[in-house]
Amino acid sequence: MYPPALFVTLISLAGAALGFELIHDYSGDHFFQGWDYYGKWDNLTLGNVTYLTQEAAVEQKLTYINTAGNAIIKVDNFTTVANGERRNSIRLTSQEFYDFGTVWVVDATHLPYGCSVWPAFWSTAPNWPDGGEIDIIEGINNQASNQWAIHTTQGCYHTQAPADQAGFNIDTDCSTASGCTVGTDAPNTYMSGFAAAGGGVYATQFDTTGIFMWFWTRDQVPEDLTSNATTLDVSTWGDPIASFPSDQECNVTQFFTPQQLIFDITLCGVWAGVPSIYNAQCPNAGPNNDCYLDDVVGDGSNYDEAYFEVSYVRTYATGTALAAAQSASATSTTSASATATHSDPSTTAKTQTSDASLPSVSLHGLLIFSMCVGGLIAGSVLPLL
Ligand SMILES: *[C@@H]1O[C@H](CO)[C@@H](O)[C@H](O)[C@H]1NC(C)=O
Ligand SMILES: *[C@@H]1O[C@H](CO)[C@@H](O)[C@H](O)[C@H]1NC(C)=O
Ligand SMILES: *[C@@H]1O[C@H](CO)[C@@H](O)[C@H](O)[C@H]1NC(C)=O
Ligand SMILES: *[C@@H]1O[C@H](CO)[C@@H](O)[C@H](O)[C@H]1NC(C)=O
Ligand SMILES: *[C@@H]1O[C@H](CO)[C@@H](O)[C@H](O)[C@H]1NC(C)=O
Repeated sequence: MYPPALFVTLISLAGAALGFELIHDYSGDHFFQGWDYYGKWDNLTLGNVTYLTQEAAVEQKLTYINTAGNAIIKVDNFTTVANGERRNSIRLTSQEFYDFGTVWVVDATHLPYGCSVWPAFWSTAPNWPDGGEIDIIEGINNQASNQWAIHTTQGCYHTQAPADQAGFNIDTDCSTASGCTVGTDAPNTYMSGFAAAGGGVYATQFDTTGIFMWFWTRDQVPEDLTSNATTLDVSTWGDPIASFPSDQECNVTQFFTPQQLIFDITLCGVWAGVPSIYNAQCPNAGPNNDCYLDDVVGDGSNYDEAYFEVSYVRTYATGTALAAAQSASATSTTSASATATHSDPSTTAKTQTSDASLPSVSLHGLLIFSMCVGGLIAGSVLPLL
């Protein structure tokens, strides 16, 4: 709760330059508060999983806090699945919507991987593809490195890698099935390489000036994050690995609306399970050369590495998004999630400016039913749909 005087001060400064203040801390015993469990089969990417309800997930221990105090989000690796059945997994959606002027940080020590496994930490607007999608952590099968992407309705492109982008462009039309994808060769971004390095931190700035994503392996996490600061200065973070500035090629405020954050782990489905992709990445995984039959069916021993271990997700805001979050936390008892941080605007002024007040316009272009999938499959998925 804010004292009314401070609240008024913040509102009056909403248009001025402010640092990013912590607005929500998903961590520790409270990590799973503020997320909805999907509670039905994967009807989005058509994987061979049932996403459990919260009650079932807790009972079957597919989500829990481990002894290190980290959140575990995992695939069932202890049930024998018969041919024709699905395996249990998890999809979590944040109840909170994050507007322009916010930064989302996830610190993890392990990401799910292995043949048939397709995890993602991503965001979307409710009426996808209207309002856009941002893929922050995503990989399939034995893919060595992470891939970042944005997805939009027709009219948004990323044909040239911006000068400040550390990763390389893969696909450049954001309305295709693959979206606008950015890759890296760094093996510490995903799979066993990520865990071996002690994990790392992924951060996303969602702003009217563009969408910018960073990755740091454990020993390179910037000081404001390792020191647990409640105020961030993203201008000290160096070049993003994926940079989507709002420009002539893609007016971000036109294609994106407030986003919800999602964790999910599916199996097979319209990217990991596409036969040509699956067989290229997982040759000899089983006798059938088939993702579902060779991995999902049978005992759960393929899935011992199919889990997220997350120490926190923290979200930060500036400008009008910060004022809105503080107003919500000051007026609503249901947003116990919105952590009111101690804030003194006079000492937290930073260089970022963000005008989150621009209206967003949805396009209703005719779109194929594209998925939050990687660049390999633009051609191969469509016949399956
Ligand atoms: C998936 O199911 C949900 C809930 O029934 C529904 O709202 C949504 O439109 C479905 N999505 C797709 C892609 O079919
Ligand atoms: C498994 O996925 C494949 C490919 O999407 C689909 O054809 C099959 O019906 C699925 N089976 C189950 C039991 O989910
Ligand atoms: C880090 O900051 C969060 C939010 O302010 C707090 O809940 C947590 O206890 C802090 N952790 C440490 C190790 O200081
Ligand atoms: C971007 O789109 C917004 C509406 O979403 C519009 O107000 C603004 O003028 C556009 N900017 C440019 C440079 O076209
Ligand atoms: C499932 O995987 C975890 C590691 O993620 C492992 O500790 C556990 O023993 C596995 N369960 C079974 C039944 O093999």
